[in-house]
Amino acid sequence: MGYIGRREAAPIIVEGLKKLEYRGYDSFGVATISGGIELDKHQGRISNSSRSAAHLKGKIGIGHTRWATHGVPSDTNAHPHMDCSNRIAVVHNGIIENYAELKRQLIARGHIFRSETDTEVVAHLIEEAYEVEKDLLAAVQKIVPKLTGSYALLVIAIGEDRIIAARYASPLVLGVGDGEFFAASDMMPILDHTDRAMYLEDGDIASISEVGVEIFHEGKPVKRPVELIDWSQEDTKKGGFPHYMLKEIYEQPQAFYNSVRAITGETLPAPIRNPGSVTVIACGSSYNAGLIFKYLLEDSCAIPLRLDFASEFKYFPPPIQGLVIGISQSGETADTISALKQAKEHNCTTLAITNVLGSSISRSTDFTLFMRAGPEISVAATKSFIAQLAVLMQIINFIRDGEFEEVLRNGHRAIEEVLLMDLSEAVELCINARSIYYVGRGPFYPVSLEGALKMKEISYIHAEGYAAGELKHGPFALLSKETPVIAICMPGETYAVMISNIKEINARGAPVIALGVEGDLELAEVVDIFIPLPETHPFLQVLTTLVVLQLLAYHTAVALNRDVDKPRNLAKSVTVE
Ligand code: AGP
Repeated sequence: MGYIGRREAAPIIVEGLKKLEYRGYDSFGVATISGGIELDKHQGRISNSSRSAAHLKGKIGIGHTRWATHGVPSDTNAHPHMDCSNRIAVVHNGIIENYAELKRQLIARGHIFRSETDTEVVAHLIEEAYEVEKDLLAAVQKIVPKLTGSYALLVIAIGEDRIIAARYASPLVLGVGDGEFFAASDMMPILDHTDRAMYLEDGDIASISEVGVEIFHEGKPVKRPVELIDWSQEDTKKGGFPHYMLKEIYEQPQAFYNSVRAITGETLPAPIRNPGSVTVIACGSSYNAGLIFKYLLEDSCAIPLRLDFASEFKYFPPPIQGLVIGISQSGETADTISALKQAKEHNCTTLAITNVLGSSISRSTDFTLFMRAGPEISVAATKSFIAQLAVLMQIINFIRDGEFEEVLRNGHRAIEEVLLMDLSEAVELCINARSIYYVGRGPFYPVSLEGALKMKEISYIHAEGYAAGELKHGPFALLSKETPVIAICMPGETYAVMISNIKEINARGAPVIALGVEGDLELAEVVDIFIPLPETHPFLQVLTTLVVLQLLAYHTAVALNRDVDKPRNLAKSVTVE
């Protein structure tokens, strides 16, 4: 968030950051220009911090509320970040992927770094360019081409009566007020002051002063239209989506894309490169991700994987040695953390896969791999689940020396293709169901578990996932026309036996909804509702079937008027046993 105009900047920025907290809230900070730079930043949430930065003086300012990606949440790692001479302040949303190399070069040239963040390299790069250009806009234009990754940047400097903004792959919008201007990651904090917005495009660099905005693209002046925004406050928190869950489902291509790219040769811990055996412990959706990983790892790498519910592992630890992986989106799930501690006591090597930097789990394991899903607000795990699979598939890719590189680099496109599917017929069948059964074989068995979990979690309809071959060993007794069965039937060695299973289910009167590949007429003919998906690599077929089942649960819950983002009895992070 940034402000420049006739009013004191800090109070406006502090209130604005509170409106941006849903994007990340582990630490915050504000910097203003009044002669020198005044800076105030702290770990913790701005909305419940007693130490507000609203007292800072000056009519030009920038601020940031953080969702940590590099460097744990702390006062030092909070933004804004400064250059060596404390003349320049920067806030950043995104990931500077080449920050490590840039930081090495800057340190070699004598720069002193204070934080562990990727962002701080930007402040020092601008410092160097500013000494040559003596102009903040020129300095930013000079260093931006050196950055790889995603960024929405706001920069201020002593002696410069303006804010410089730069945008690439992370959102940044300008608010046009009366004699004052605003910049923010979305319209939420701006709507308090104006409904006139100017959206920057990727590659834009803007100079925002009291008298106006100049925007440059590849060095040439460009114009961006001023648009009128008619969103309500609440809407903009969800970026125009009716629920966070739908927004997060739609963020899955980006979450998968970022998470795959975050796992590189450097970041992959040695013990996972060629593990003798692997034990995975997790809960809920993370457990389901672990089971998908088991099928894919054992099939692709012939490495045995043992999977345990964390809540069982802690009290009934199996005789294990070697690598133990704890999967936890929040990184705060008590069962998983305590099970990992148990594993450490048994002298196992422990690795955490989590979405939250600085989370408890990442501080209790030997190694940590971070998903890049961004903050997930909705209780039901969606983009964090897909991000877990991105990390797990990337591990398999590295073990297989890059065999799946091409597949994973295109995973986000496979997800995009199914986001807009029309599931209304299937929803109609589900909303009146007494119970819903999900069946699949191989990795589509845990996909069925996850689909069922989503459905029960947010629609409150009883739902169960089963290995398709298991249904006839008892659960067939439950089948009737009120119990639709959702069958995942993909090409491959189990296709024929899945068709037989579906016919057996049909014979007992239960309606069948099948997920299959486009053009599969044989399948379409033996089911009540056929949901055709583009045929793709088995790894990506897991992703596309998951997304369809997430959307099916979402639309069913909406049709039933459920509290989709905060379902009854649940919490986003189960920090108790
Ligand atoms: C999934 O939709 C649920 N929110 C829940 O099962 C969740 O996956 C489980 O509590 C584990 O959470 P974690 O990944 O943060 O450890």
